[in-house]
Amino acid sequence: MSETITSILEEHRSFEPPLGHSGSIASLDAYQALCAEFTEDSDASWGRLANKHLNWNKPFTEVLNRQHAPFFRWFEDGKLNLSENCLDRHIANGLGERNAIIWESEAGLVRHISYNALLADVCRAANAMSALGIEAGDRVIIYMPMIPEAAIAMLACSRIGAIHSVVFGAFSAQALRDRIEDTAARLIITADGGARRGAIHALKPNVDEALSKGCASIEHVLIVNHAGNNVDMRAGRDLDWHDALKAQPDQRPPLSVDSEHPLFILYTSGSTGKPKGILHSTAGYLLWARLTMLWTFDFRAESDVFWCTADVGWITGHTYSVYGPLACGGTTVMYEGVPTYPDPGRLWKLCADHAVTIFYTAPTAIRALIKAGDTWPEQHDLSKLRVLGTVGEPINPEAWMWYRDVIGQGRCPIVDTWWQTETGGHMITPLPFATATKPGSATLPLPGIDAAVVDEYGNEIKKGSGDGGLLVLRQPWPSMLRGIWGDDQRYIDTYWHKFNGSYYFAGDGARCDEDGYFWIMGRVDDVLNVSGHRLGTMEIESALVSHAGVAEAAVVGRPHDIKGEAICAFVTMKKTIDDSMATALAAELRAHVSKEIGAIAKPDDIRFADNLPKTRSGKIMRRLLRDIAAGRDIVSDTSTLEDQSVVQQLQQRR
Ligand code: WTA
Repeated sequence: MSETITSILEEHRSFEPPLGHSGSIASLDAYQALCAEFTEDSDASWGRLANKHLNWNKPFTEVLNRQHAPFFRWFEDGKLNLSENCLDRHIANGLGERNAIIWESEAGLVRHISYNALLADVCRAANAMSALGIEAGDRVIIYMPMIPEAAIAMLACSRIGAIHSVVFGAFSAQALRDRIEDTAARLIITADGGARRGAIHALKPNVDEALSKGCASIEHVLIVNHAGNNVDMRAGRDLDWHDALKAQPDQRPPLSVDSEHPLFILYTSGSTGKPKGILHSTAGYLLWARLTMLWTFDFRAESDVFWCTADVGWITGHTYSVYGPLACGGTTVMYEGVPTYPDPGRLWKLCADHAVTIFYTAPTAIRALIKAGDTWPEQHDLSKLRVLGTVGEPINPEAWMWYRDVIGQGRCPIVDTWWQTETGGHMITPLPFATATKPGSATLPLPGIDAAVVDEYGNEIKKGSGDGGLLVLRQPWPSMLRGIWGDDQRYIDTYWHKFNGSYYFAGDGARCDEDGYFWIMGRVDDVLNVSGHRLGTMEIESALVSHAGVAEAAVVGRPHDIKGEAICAFVTMKKTIDDSMATALAAELRAHVSKEIGAIAKPDDIRFADNLPKTRSGKIMRRLLRDIAAGRDIVSDTSTLEDQSVVQQLQQRR
C-alpha cells in the first residue's frame, strides 16, 4: 500500500467544475445544502426523496427501522414494483416510444428497443416464467452474454417478485454450479452463446456440465437462441426462450411487493471461503439507482444517451447498465463484445454512432486504450460526450488526465466513483457540476452518505494528516446490502464485527486530504482487484489445491500497468519437479483455475517452490510474497520466518 500513498501525495492538480450549469446538484452550495439537510434529519431527507422519486402502490410510514441492526429495514411498510417503476411509469408519462435500450453486437448488428417494446417482452417473459411455476421469492439464475434479453430477464423477475442472480457469462461451469447450489434456484435463463473477439463463446455446455452433478433444485432451463450455435436440448427440462415468449400475452400486471422484498443476489469475492451472495432488496436499491444517476451523472432522461460498459454480471452492470437508466426513463447502451474488436477504436466508434453523452468505464479499459494510441479516438466524433465516469479500481492520475484531455477534450468533468457490490450504488464521487476534481481522488461522499477514514480502533484520522486508515460508512443507507444469502453470521462478521456493530467496514484503505477528499488506496484484505474485478486470493488458492498434484498454494497480487493488479501464485507440488517441467505444469494449473472459476482468475505468474515462507506458527507470510512477486527489495520483517532459505529460492525462480 505504501507505493500508492507516495504517488498520491505528489498529486496537486485540481480542476474546477464547469460553471453556469443547472443540473440536479449544480453547485457546491447546493451539494452542501443537501448534505446539511441530511445532518439535520436524515430520516426525513430519505423519506422525502423516496416519496418524490419512486412510484408507490402503498406509501410507507416508517423510513428506517434500526431495531434489528445491522439488519436495517428501509421504507418497510411501503409496497411497489420495480419493473413498474422502470417501465409502466414512463409509458404512462407518454414516453413509450423512447429508446430504452440501444444494443449493438460485436459484429455491428444494432437493435433499438423502445419502452413499449421492452415492457411487452418483460411481460411475456414474466408470463413464461410463471407458466414454468416460478413464484415470488423463487431464485432464477441468469447466465447470459450482454444482450437485451439479460435485462429483460432481470426485469421480468422483478415483475413477479422472483429473485435473480446473474452469473457472469465468462464464469466456469463450476462457478455456476456453486451459485446454483447456494441459491437453490429453480430456473436458469441462458443463451446458446455470445460473441467474443470475433468468435462464439458457448454458454449452454457450461450449464449442462453444471447440472450434470447436483443442482437438483433446477427444474427448467430457458435458452435464448442468439449466436446461432447448435444446442443440445434436454426434453422436459430445456425450452427455447423465443418459443416460450411467443406463446404468452404481452401484458402482465406487476406484483406489488414489500419495500424489503429481495430483488437480487449477486456473488462477490471476499477474503475467506467461497464468494458471498450479496443480497439487495427492492425500494432502497431502486431509489439509490435512480438518485445516483441524477446526481453523479447529471443524467437527463430526455436528452442523454448513457453508456456504462460493464457487463450485467457485475454490480456496475446491474445498477448502471440496467436499473439506474431505466428507473430514470432514459436510454441505455449495451454492447456485446470486447472493447478492442475489431480495433481499439471500437468504444469511441460506438460513442459516436449512438451519440453517447455520458460514458462510464473502468480504469483498466482506459489504460489499455491509452496504449493503443490517440489516433483511435481522434478518428471519431466525441463531441456529444459531456460527462465521463470511472469505476472499480483506483485510477492513476496519468490515465485520468488522458481521459480528460483526449476523450473529454478538456470539456467533460470526470466522476471517479467509489462503491462496491455491497453498497448497491455510488458512495464517494464528484458531482460533475459541483465538485472540483483532483486526478486520482474519488473526492467527497454523496449527500446522505457518512463516509470516514478511521484507525484500527474506529477513531477518525485527522483530515490532511497524510495518514492512511480504514474506510467506513457510519450510517446505514437505503441501497446497502441486506445480508449474505443464507449466512447472517458471515454478514455480521465481515462488515460489522470490526467496529463492534457501529460502522460498516468496507475492506478498503483510504486517506482523507485537507479538503476532506478521499483517496482510495485499495483493499486491506486478501482481495485482489484485477481489471476492476474482485477476486479473493483464497478462492484462487482453493482452485489450485483442488488440482491433484498441488500440495499448497499462496496467491498474492503484484502491480500491473493495465490490469491494476496481476495474479501471482506460489505453488508447492506433492512431488518434486524439475525446471524442465515447470512451463507445462504452469500452463496446466492455469487451465485448471480457469475451469474452476473462469478465465479472469488465471494466475499471470506461477512460481514453484519446495516450501512456502511461513512463520513459526505456520502462517504464510503474504507480505513477503507480495514483495517477491513485485520484484521489490524485501521490506518485510523476515525474522519470524521458519526457513530462511525459502526466500532466496523464491527470488531466484522467476
Ligand atoms: C474497488 C465495483 C478505487 C474497491 C463497483 C472496492 C475502487 C471494490 C473504486 C469493489 C474507485 C471500486 N477507486 N477503488 N473509484 N471503485 N473500487 O464489489 O477496492 O466489484 O472495495 O464493486 O473495488 O468492487 P465491486
